[in-house]
Amino acid sequence: MHNNPKLGLDENDRRTAGRLLTEFFDDYEQSLAERPIVPAVDRDALTRLLDTPFPDQGIGVEGFFREIDQKILPNSTTVSHPRFLAYVLGPPNGIAPYAEAIAATINQNCNFWQLSPAASVIERAVITWLGGLFGYDDEAGGTLTGGGSMATLSALSVALHARRQDYRDEGLQTAGSRLVLYTSTEAHRSVDKAAAILGIGLNNVRHVPTDDHYRMRVDVLEETVRADRAAGLEPFCVVATPGTVTSGSIDPIAEIADVCARDGMWLHLDGAYGALFVLSEHKRDAFEACGRADSIALDPHKLLFAPLEAGCLLVRDRTQLAQAHAFSSSYLTVEEDPLMLDYMDYGPQLSRNFKALKVWSALQTFGIDAFRSAMDDMLDLAQYMADLIETAPDLELMAPVSLTAVCFRIKGATEAAHTAVLAALSEDGTALLGPARLDGRHGMRACVTNYRTTRADIELIVDRLSDLARRHGGPVDGALKVTR
Ligand SMILES: Cc1ncc(COP(=O)(O)O)c(C=O)c1O
Repeated sequence: MHNNPKLGLDENDRRTAGRLLTEFFDDYEQSLAERPIVPAVDRDALTRLLDTPFPDQGIGVEGFFREIDQKILPNSTTVSHPRFLAYVLGPPNGIAPYAEAIAATINQNCNFWQLSPAASVIERAVITWLGGLFGYDDEAGGTLTGGGSMATLSALSVALHARRQDYRDEGLQTAGSRLVLYTSTEAHRSVDKAAAILGIGLNNVRHVPTDDHYRMRVDVLEETVRADRAAGLEPFCVVATPGTVTSGSIDPIAEIADVCARDGMWLHLDGAYGALFVLSEHKRDAFEACGRADSIALDPHKLLFAPLEAGCLLVRDRTQLAQAHAFSSSYLTVEEDPLMLDYMDYGPQLSRNFKALKVWSALQTFGIDAFRSAMDDMLDLAQYMADLIETAPDLELMAPVSLTAVCFRIKGATEAAHTAVLAALSEDGTALLGPARLDGRHGMRACVTNYRTTRADIELIVDRLSDLARRHGGPVDGALKVTR
């Protein structure tokens, strides 16, 4: 007899799947600290293991969980490991996997509100709360995005639409003067990438040099803007960074906002790494002027520990966000409903998943105080690491520690030596750190964006680093030899 194809789970299968999922969550949580941070991967073998033809007859629920346990998990990076301190990436908060499962189950399409009424209100609540952290009022709005890069891409599109009234029809193909964008030499590459994608052109992006704390030099910004104007160009936007990706430096936002106000330029803040440190009482002042920006990118998938992907774009005047993105007949013909927003009018996507749920569920489950104290703990840990490095004879800091990124180097060591030390740290399971480059000098970087990291983890890392630097004799002809 012919079996009908079956894509749902019957009650038995659901029970089995639920039990296996719970076991998976428990085992993963309990084994986290013992898991390899980066698995030793034989790339050919891994490809042979996973790149196999799909079966005509399915392997069933138990077969699926077996594949996860035997093939996928052992070959996945343990981002949640307490000594995973590379890049700006943290572990998901504890309720997130459940929120993600629920979002997948109810599969709301967060494009227009009739397809996702509760989700529309929840996204607005999340955006309003995030905007409020920077003093944005009820004229502001925003949208959740795939990340900080996407938020900055959309923000620069909004800035272009706001600058040129005919931008939607003419794009940049007009006889008008060249538009110029300003950012710093420490800006994230997503700024260049957005400028390239949007047709601004990298030749029209100025990378303003930084001071000895790696903050944008406002005097040079002003000079450059003046020179560009004198040359017949049109300065239109500054992207400042409250929390640069390498050292965590915070650009002087208030002074930059003054320049933008005086020169009629859009101010966008790339707060993908740093902006959410506004939640820390100790750092709030540093972010005070952020509310003067026209738009802010930030990343709940970093410091709110939402699982990937959850970025956010905030715009001080939400009608400008809609003017750049709304193409729907609802926006053109119906007055905006202040309560039920159609998020397709706020960004480039039509179909959108329910990202707001994973942010909202964590804020509800743990409360804002839990996030405030996580920020403070991470800031303390970074400072503790900096203190230990300063007292280690073979190590030196490369930059002041403004947030939680700690850049340091082994005295006298070359780039190759630092690369070898990073590899040794990862291979022996001590930690995953990243490389750093500041002022042309090479070193290493630990970025504490992990609520699981403890002082003992930091001590272990610095001990091992000191050991590697010392045992291998420090600089030998300018190069450090690492034996593993
Ligand atoms: C300052 C800064 N901007 C932008 C980004 C890119 O963010 P995303 O990876 O969410 O696109 C990062 C990522 O670390 C960052 O640190």
